[in-house]
Amino acid sequence: MLPLQSKRIVLGVTGSIACYKAADLASKLTQLGAEVDVILTGAAQHFIKPLTFQSVTGRRTYVDQDLWGPEGHVLHVKLGKDADLLLIAPATANTLAKLAAGQADNLLTLTALAATAPLMLAPAMDGGMYDHPATQASLDTLRARGAQIHGPVSGHLASGLSGVGRMLEPAELAGHARVALGASGPLAGRRVLVTAGGTQEPIDPVRVIANRSSGKQGYALAQAALDMGAQVTLVSGPTALTPPVGAEFVRVQTAVEMRNAVLAHAAGADMLLMAAAVADFRPSNAANKKIKRAEGVPTVELAANPDILKEVSQQAGKPRLLVGFAAESNDLLANAQGKLASKGLDMIVANDVSAQDAGFEVDTNRVILLTKDGAQEELPLLSKYEVARKVLEKALSLLK
Ligand code: CTP
Repeated sequence: MLPLQSKRIVLGVTGSIACYKAADLASKLTQLGAEVDVILTGAAQHFIKPLTFQSVTGRRTYVDQDLWGPEGHVLHVKLGKDADLLLIAPATANTLAKLAAGQADNLLTLTALAATAPLMLAPAMDGGMYDHPATQASLDTLRARGAQIHGPVSGHLASGLSGVGRMLEPAELAGHARVALGASGPLAGRRVLVTAGGTQEPIDPVRVIANRSSGKQGYALAQAALDMGAQVTLVSGPTALTPPVGAEFVRVQTAVEMRNAVLAHAAGADMLLMAAAVADFRPSNAANKKIKRAEGVPTVELAANPDILKEVSQQAGKPRLLVGFAAESNDLLANAQGKLASKGLDMIVANDVSAQDAGFEVDTNRVILLTKDGAQEELPLLSKYEVARKVLEKALSLLK
């Protein structure tokens, strides 16, 4: 299942050099499963052609001329009414001013008046134009009317100057679109706490004991929970991944830091999904200076780390549902069942990490969901995102 399947987005593109990034945005949204109807203004067509968008969306791209065709009198109404989200990226100062004033002199601004869907704007312009009181007043008016405004950000501008005016990057805008489109999903109003990645336990200031967890399954859980409308906190060990847009993000390094972060965010959460690979042991006395080779081969003595899940399960204000993950290389079911019981969990997601296509580092996973009532559900090989959706659907059914 694709995250934005059956969602309809009208993507309005106005005349800024950031138009070239809008093609990437249209492509990203399409790849996420959305049906993307692009409307180009006349000025946008000086920068980019309808064919570019048609090629990435696989759908017709609309221009002002379409207003004067046979469907002209209803086109803007149909586009506006069918949309789940109206996203204008880039949005120029001129279009912002028109939207604020309720003007409707082209297909895009007409559609904006006809649309009932949430309006999301990604302004892009030169710094001075953005700072101008007229533009700021347009943005204030639109914000007060409920529009979501993302960016602009600071950096190099096409004018050669640098300042605040750059359109937010397509990946981030796609993330905001996911949050907006997921808002009324099955997890709306729920708080989901996710942990991800492995922890690192310092030996000295430059060396750590780490594990092979990439964090991909945990990040997929956080993203899927956002797509389903949840309010998400992601507590993550060091990973190379970008946190999903819309999640509250807490970066930790060690198991003890992860424990503290989880306990600080557990109260009031509907569920805790503990996907992190927490180190069970840490060097008992991390050296505060780099250990030198000339000192000879060191012996690293280890101490036990807290069992975070077990500790949380014994807390008074614990999340309503506790979900653990068991990565095993042998005796999968027996080991997972043992952890389900000993850690006081409602569900455990068991996976055999000895398989090539499941577990560490890869994008796919093959898991079995074991619940407290003794039920077992074996899932086929799925992407980590699809696994995340299934885990969340099962967790939600247990919550209910
Ligand atoms: N876990 C935890 N705190 C730890 C270790 C693990 O909260 N110190 C959580 C993991 O996040 C996971 C579940 O417990 O959700 C099972 O993790 P796993 O490492 O498989 O369990 P352990 O109890 O450490 O057992 P072992 O490593 O001996 O298999």
